[in-house]
Amino acid sequence: MLEVERSTVVRWERGETEPLPWIRPKLAKALGVSAGRLEELLSSASTAESDDAGPTVPRQLPAAVADFTGRAAELAALTRILDDASAGTPGTVVISAIGGTAGVGKTALALRWAHQVAHRFGDGQLYVNLRGFDPSGAPAKPEEAIRGFLDALGVPAERIPPMPDAQAAQYRSLLADKRMLIVLDNARDEQQVRPLLSASPGSLVIVTSRKQLAGLAADDRARLLSLDVLSHAEAVQLLTGRVGQARTAAEPGAVTEIATLCACLPLALTVAAARAASRPGFPLSAVVAELRDSAGRLEILDSGDASASVRAVFSWSYRQLGDQAARMFRLCGLHPGPDITAPAAASLAATSEPETRRLLRDLTRDCLITEHSPGRYAFHDLLRAYAADQAHDCDGEPDHAAAVGRVLDHYLHAGHAAAGLLDPTRAPITLAPPGPGIVPERSVSYQHAMAWFAAERHVLLAMVALAVRSGSDSHAWQIPWTMMPFLARQGQYQELAAIQGTALAAAIRLDDMSAQAESGRLLASSLTIIGDHGQALSHYANCLKIYRQRGDRLVRPRSTEGSASWPNARAATLTRWVTASRPFAFSRPSATRRWRQTCSTTQAGATVNLATTSRPERSASRHLP
Ligand SMILES: Nc1ncnc2c1ncn2[C@@H]1O[C@H](COP(=O)(O)OP(=O)(O)O)[C@@H](O)[C@H]1O
Ligand SMILES: [Mg+2]
Repeated sequence: MLEVERSTVVRWERGETEPLPWIRPKLAKALGVSAGRLEELLSSASTAESDDAGPTVPRQLPAAVADFTGRAAELAALTRILDDASAGTPGTVVISAIGGTAGVGKTALALRWAHQVAHRFGDGQLYVNLRGFDPSGAPAKPEEAIRGFLDALGVPAERIPPMPDAQAAQYRSLLADKRMLIVLDNARDEQQVRPLLSASPGSLVIVTSRKQLAGLAADDRARLLSLDVLSHAEAVQLLTGRVGQARTAAEPGAVTEIATLCACLPLALTVAAARAASRPGFPLSAVVAELRDSAGRLEILDSGDASASVRAVFSWSYRQLGDQAARMFRLCGLHPGPDITAPAAASLAATSEPETRRLLRDLTRDCLITEHSPGRYAFHDLLRAYAADQAHDCDGEPDHAAAVGRVLDHYLHAGHAAAGLLDPTRAPITLAPPGPGIVPERSVSYQHAMAWFAAERHVLLAMVALAVRSGSDSHAWQIPWTMMPFLARQGQYQELAAIQGTALAAAIRLDDMSAQAESGRLLASSLTIIGDHGQALSHYANCLKIYRQRGDRLVRPRSTEGSASWPNARAATLTRWVTASRPFAFSRPSATRRWRQTCSTTQAGATVNLATTSRPERSASRHLP
């Protein structure tokens, strides 16, 4: 006897996903077709897909800085390294800053050069921000980066194995004969980078890090390039480019002094230049006076220390913001990132969306925040840390708690609505109504919801961590609940298991039995798929206990064969039990009939078959209830 969800059968019919290997023999038997015929149907569906799509050439490089200045020697050195490696030796280049200086221009240099040489890598470019020094303290795990690369390389989710080791092997074999340019930005250490290094002679990896990563040079033949601040002449050139030739030519002494006060650090120069450029009639000598004043207040005058200078420049620019823009800047510092949209910022600050867009434009103009892709705003790490410091100095704890509560509510309600579009058959959980000041963000279609989750995935994960930190345990289990259909469609079961573990812990702290059953069930399902059957069973057992205690309907499965001896089968059986107790359990025999009809229609040569059915919503969703 085979029991499956109707929605799963529909996806098989459409060719959106494939049955797991252990299901196939049972499926063939249930359908009365041979195993060979079943495989034929399934593979003709996937052939049609890959023929349509053609090979995927990823183009993940973010845009380079428009008015990039100087660095001629470094660019030439990088090109020499590449030329040397072109003979066929593997090339790994590490760009790292002296003394771990942030804001020195590592990312800008790496991207500038990557764009210059991208044409030499015909199989495309991969880029990941490894968030090694994110103030929120959540560096990307190598397996997360690999998973993102597999998606970028066009591997369908259902063809990506659930276990990280197998994914890493798949990544290596995919790159083995490719000429790929890979940028690993903001690496924390060698361990984070190593699994991502391509062994292919034709590919090149550029790593940026605040550390020297000497271990990569020793063990992985990486070439180190230490990046210092700009030369004084380059700093003046950067300021001239951004403030304008006429003003800088009129006050050359002031320009030189601004460069010195910024310690020639590109990030400080960029912020100072943006502020000066936004006040066209303002004499540059007055900018110097203000910058000196700012440094004086912080008692770091002429220290020549880049990190001290950058603080003085930030505080100078920040103090000139209007009240509302300054408040928006501070509150954005409470958002863990990696980036924020105008609707989310509007909820964070309880301001209208048009007003929020105006404030974000002001902050962007002053280079305090960057619109790194249309509608998505991000901080440089140093600016985020500065904004968070200002928030703690200026606003009271109740204001922070209210802002954090609003932004958590924002993502929870937006996620809940989007999840409903991804899986309309799922019994929704009941949320508390959103608090005042929240700007609703609603997905309008399946595609929109998928795009929303794809764009917000890292933000949502950061929100779960923020919910835990701020003691908002209802958000800490409900946000992961909303992410389930998306992550399941992506085949992201490791990530799903990790956040459902967090969710379950929150539900236990809340002493909320229904939340514990929901999170425990999703955790157990993910664990079953990634092969941790022992843990899965114990979580399923807990769920069953709770469902029984609560008097929820339990349906005895029709098949329990092998359940006593085989953990996988027992877990699967328990899945069916728990699934059957859910309010929207389907009539499975009719689903099986439908699948059989499809197969026989296909065999008869009709137009409806696995190979030609359109597949608007690809899915790797397996047997998650
Ligand atoms: N050579 C350069 N020319 C123009 N702007 C630069 C240059 N280097 C860095 N910047 C600007 O300085 C800021 C900090 O640079 P970034 O590359 O982000 O630093 P890092 O990666 O070392 O922390 C960014 O706004 C960047 O655009
Ligand atoms: Mg950087």
